[in-house]
Amino acid sequence: MSDQQIKIRVWDLPVRIFHWGLVGFVATGLITGFFSPEWWMGIHVWAGYGTVLLVVFRLVWGVFGSEFSRFETFSFTPAEIIAHIRELIFLRPHHFIGHNPAGAMMIFALVFILSAITLSGLLVLGGEENQGPLAGAINYWVGDFAGEVHLVLTIILMVLISLHIMGVFIETRLTRENLIKSMVDGYKIIPHGKSAPERRLSRPLAAAACLLAFASLAGSVLWAFSIMPPSGITQLAINEDYTTECGDCHEAYHPSLLPRASWAMLMVNLEDHFGEDASLDQDITAGIASHLDSYAAEAWDTEASNRFSILSPELLLPAPYQISATPYWQRKHEDISAEVFKRKSIANKSNCASCHRDAATGHFHDQAINIPEK
Ligand code: HEC
Ligand code: HEC
Repeated sequence: MSDQQIKIRVWDLPVRIFHWGLVGFVATGLITGFFSPEWWMGIHVWAGYGTVLLVVFRLVWGVFGSEFSRFETFSFTPAEIIAHIRELIFLRPHHFIGHNPAGAMMIFALVFILSAITLSGLLVLGGEENQGPLAGAINYWVGDFAGEVHLVLTIILMVLISLHIMGVFIETRLTRENLIKSMVDGYKIIPHGKSAPERRLSRPLAAAACLLAFASLAGSVLWAFSIMPPSGITQLAINEDYTTECGDCHEAYHPSLLPRASWAMLMVNLEDHFGEDASLDQDITAGIASHLDSYAAEAWDTEASNRFSILSPELLLPAPYQISATPYWQRKHEDISAEVFKRKSIANKSNCASCHRDAATGHFHDQAINIPEK
């Protein structure tokens, strides 16, 4: 290095931790979101919470961090942004000590899109899965819609990330400064003839106070939501007859798994019940029928109650009360081979509880799925 070159610390430690921490959480979120089995959803959710924490931290650090972390040092005017893009097109971008305009725009876009992704994720978690702080506030179909938004935003995120990585490589080539290395060690070299700029120090105490204030505010809002009982979960009364009589040949299915009309039809056809005679004493039959009627899918707002209420005429014609013949059941289990269903501890696809540890509650949470090995 010639003695005219000056090396200065541009990215402070918190910014670097933020950057690589975010890479870790977002990568985890993307991998678990697209590729992992459903029972890894817990990890996906934690990656989301980690992302929120980092994004909130970055917003605060953009005000109280050291010089080049501050948003004001990379809030460019549209004219500056256009000029920079023009320089990029002509392959001669000039050197910026902190973020250049393209990088700056990317940061604002990423912070915005990540906030929207995590918020929509919370809506899905609360609405579809009846979990997380919004479980009591969001109904199933709102959560389902938020799921579509979550996916579209994720695709936009992946486009942004690709552009960001491409941009880093292009700038690194054109300006011959290793941007990745400086995001690791924090240093950049000031080009010949330029002098080191004035740099303000970070104000960690102010940042901590601001974070604390934000955490208590957000914490109390989320807490207020989270003490609401999960929406659409009904207190299920126990009906001894149902548990013993209908639990005789298979598990006593959770009443939320079929709509009223299906249960009613099943109960009048007990003599011919999937090839078995399951008929019962008249009083007992009436008691069970009324129990199922009270707690059928219509009384719930869970993923299972909503999804199993959608019956497919072709599949269900012989028995419109077969849960495992609903389009949703078929779609969710199509990747499981026939071999698996024949394992000793499963024996039958209707043995829901063998793979769903929470089948008796009607939740069918992703995290409670566990396919037995034998
Ligand atoms: C004599 C044994 C027997 C009794 C008692 C019995 N069932 Fe069944 N049930 C079966 C068989 C066999 C099937 C077919 C699925 C299977 O192979 O497990 C079945 C299937 C079902 C299914 C569809 C499961 C699926 O895969 O979607 C429901 C729902 C059901 N029974 C409800 C009831 C209810 C409600 C009662 C009590 C009124 C009851 N059963 C009592 C034997 C029985
Ligand atoms: C051999 C094990 C096995 C059996 C038996 C089984 N399931 Fe599943 N089920 C799974 C797996 C694995 C998934 C996750 C599929 C996926 O990755 O989308 C699943 C997914 C589901 C889901 C969606 C959960 C979610 O949040 O996405 C529901 C609801 C469900 N099963 C209900 C049932 C019911 C009702 C029965 C009994 C009639 C049943 N399952 C029997 C293994 C099983």
